Amino acid sequence: MSEEPQVFCLFMIGPMGSGKSTVGRHLASLLHCDFVDSDAEIETRAGADIPWIFDVEGEDGFRRREASVLQELSEQTRVVIATGGGAVVTAANRELMSRLGVVIYLDVSVAQQVKRTGSGEGRPLLKGGDRQATLGRLMAEREPLYRELADVIISDGGSNARKVARQIQQALEDRGLLVRGAN
Ligand code: S3P
Repeated sequence: MSEEPQVFCLFMIGPMGSGKSTVGRHLASLLHCDFVDSDAEIETRAGADIPWIFDVEGEDGFRRREASVLQELSEQTRVVIATGGGAVVTAANRELMSRLGVVIYLDVSVAQQVKRTGSGEGRPLLKGGDRQATLGRLMAEREPLYRELADVIISDGGSNARKVARQIQQALEDRGLLVRGAN
């Protein structure tokens, strides 16, 4: 009998600057599984960065790429997948995540997002304009989707990533979503 925890796909969701990638990496290491960042995969496959994709193909083009990458990534098991902040707006992505994995929502305030996204570099939706207002508007639109989809919600944006990852591991065990020694 293996001592490895039994896990399938774990999807990290939440807004820009919520720490999906940093926390996701720690979580994957705690659970001894792979980690993948969907934005990084989109860039590798396109051979171009996200600002370029938005410039040339618009947000719709980016969302099509995002949906296709997510679908491919979620064919794996034992993987933590950090999604982009807007992945939840696409119905097919929501359906896929709730069907194939456990969804973890990192809930942070708009003020924390403003601090963590710095100058907004590399995030086309934050280019120009009032970043706080943009992040607030996106949060108002998307928060109901994050909450509806989430199996686990972590609202402790002040903690360091390692601590948040341990909190998630505990929450997964408490809910019976992570089974030790059972596979
Ligand atoms: C986006 C978030 C970004 C990236 C793209 C669009 C969004 O990912 O996917 O710029 O719509 O909120 P992060 O949440 O990792 O910054």
